[in-house]
Amino acid sequence: MVQRTEAESRVALKDGRTITIRPLMDQDRVALISFGLGLPKNDLLYLEDDFQNPEIISRLINANAAENWRQIVAVTDDDSIVAYTAALRMPGWSYHVANVRLIVDRAWRRSGLGMAMAQTIVEVARENGATKVTVEMLAAQTAGQAIFRRLGFVVEGQLARHAIDRDGNLHDIVLMSVFVRT
Ligand SMILES: CC(C)(COP(=O)(O)OP(=O)(O)OC[C@H]1O[C@@H](n2cnc3c(N)ncnc32)[C@H](O)[C@@H]1OP(=O)(O)O)[C@@H](O)C(=O)NCCC(=O)NCCS
Repeated sequence: MVQRTEAESRVALKDGRTITIRPLMDQDRVALISFGLGLPKNDLLYLEDDFQNPEIISRLINANAAENWRQIVAVTDDDSIVAYTAALRMPGWSYHVANVRLIVDRAWRRSGLGMAMAQTIVEVARENGATKVTVEMLAAQTAGQAIFRRLGFVVEGQLARHAIDRDGNLHDIVLMSVFVRT
């Protein structure tokens, strides 16, 4: 059993608001459903996980106990979720690699929360034993690329027409990665 060391932290954002960053918990199911329902259509089109599908939300909540999965949320004082990030350790010969994903509620963007969440999940992945962290996003998602580049990630490759959105359109994917010390 891997010991979990992620703790709760309070983060002061650039716009003066304060937020709590902590692991996703079993009692977050309703808040995670509301977070998904509040995401803009554009984001939903491109998200790898369908945050408006109750089965996906159940899968994420149930994954809390999984050894290879770490999920972190940003919550307001009334326990609303306003950002979600996760690190998933790969199976097989890429077991040292964690793949991360990140999404911030539109009303909370451009105040440093995405950056704080990205820093947290890279650290959590490292604590979970990963020595390489990867992130994939659409080539068009330049804000996400800016965040991970600031954290030392580099583009390893671009996969042509590798993702299909919920409207059936194909998109190129950018794969970024960073090596971290355990
Ligand atoms: C990408 C995302 C997480 C950024 O969240 P955020 O809270 O707005 O990010 P931050 O405020 O921490 O921004 C950090 C830096 O990213 C860059 N950035 C963020 N949003 C940007 C935008 N819309 N356009 C250009 N650069 C942007 C900037 O360099 C910014 O630093 P600055 O504010 O000092 O200029 C958010 O836009 C989102 O959830 N997008 C949809 C999902 C996604 O693309 N996820 C990333 C791949 S998994």
